[in-house]
Amino acid sequence: MSEFTGKKSFEISDQKVTESCPSNIALIKYWGKYENQIPANPSISYTLQICKTNTEMEFFADEKFSVETYLAGKEEPKFAEKIENYFKKIEEYLPWILKGKYIIKTENTFPHSSGIASSASGFGAIAKCLLRLDDSFSGCNDPKFSLKKASFLARLGSGSACRSLYNGLVVWGETVEVDGSSDLFATPYPSEKIHEIFRSFNDWVLLIHEGEKSVSSSVGHGLMNTNPYAERRFQEAHESFSKLKNILKSGDINSFIKLVEHEALTLHAMMMVSDPAFILMKTGTLAVINKIWDFRKKTGLPLFFTLDAGANVHLLFPANEKEDVLQEFIIKELLQHTQNNGVVKDVMKF
Ligand code: DP6
Repeated sequence: MSEFTGKKSFEISDQKVTESCPSNIALIKYWGKYENQIPANPSISYTLQICKTNTEMEFFADEKFSVETYLAGKEEPKFAEKIENYFKKIEEYLPWILKGKYIIKTENTFPHSSGIASSASGFGAIAKCLLRLDDSFSGCNDPKFSLKKASFLARLGSGSACRSLYNGLVVWGETVEVDGSSDLFATPYPSEKIHEIFRSFNDWVLLIHEGEKSVSSSVGHGLMNTNPYAERRFQEAHESFSKLKNILKSGDINSFIKLVEHEALTLHAMMMVSDPAFILMKTGTLAVINKIWDFRKKTGLPLFFTLDAGANVHLLFPANEKEDVLQEFIIKELLQHTQNNGVVKDVMKF
């Protein structure tokens, strides 16, 4: 029995709920996991504001269990199958979940083909819808607990999704550096320990390569099981946390830049030394990275990058700090390395 085990007494009825959940971008990356979605190391991310998934969930009580899903109006049977399996997996926590039929309509605010991961915002939104239903069926009225349970359930759908439930900087995975951190759900990083410079940040995603990723995250995580550098990497993530804690407090942007870029390159290095090996960067990714480094050397301005498990580049820069100069450089010099002049402009403010 855990605190998330569902109550056995409930009364179900037809319901329609809508929820929205943003995507997130990790600074210290989750890469490698154990059974039941337990992360191999702690991670921390910024929750975005513009890139979101909006989801409408209709529940028809007492009908035979089935799931129909629509993405941007188009029926997606493959996604429905994934959700059915997910619902079966979490029945222990929501005992009513298989007692009805679902129609789930979902849309992303970012382009579908962009390669921006939709699993974090997608599972985040679904978990929020499920908790709305759960609260109404079980009569629970504890919003803080419901959010924690939504994060717990989102994690079982996609690990990084559990961080999207909270705004600001969010931690997932147990670390001695953050009180209350857990492998089972995410916790917001205490805002009084964050220097002002990190509370208002831009994340512009350069769409270097649109379309399907060459390796799915589940395959990628699996490759860490046999990666000869895995244990050292997991250890390093813990070390990065203790460095980051001081950086966040002091506002040392140069150390922040160094740490965040190192994390992104480590993720890609892990893929390069996996068996089989993957190179997820494209020519454009490398060109952009070199130009950013050159620009920083010349101007000393805080423009830097992080990467997901793909070729796109997330350009990070604090809001208000010579923003216009940075934006001009991005448009004039970096945009040309994207596939279709693709850039998604997001922001984090808290
Ligand atoms: C590189 O959360 O997509 O974005 O748990 O298998 O669904 P699953 O993986 P997922 O992995 C995300 C990996 C990452 C880093 C991160 O977000 O921390």
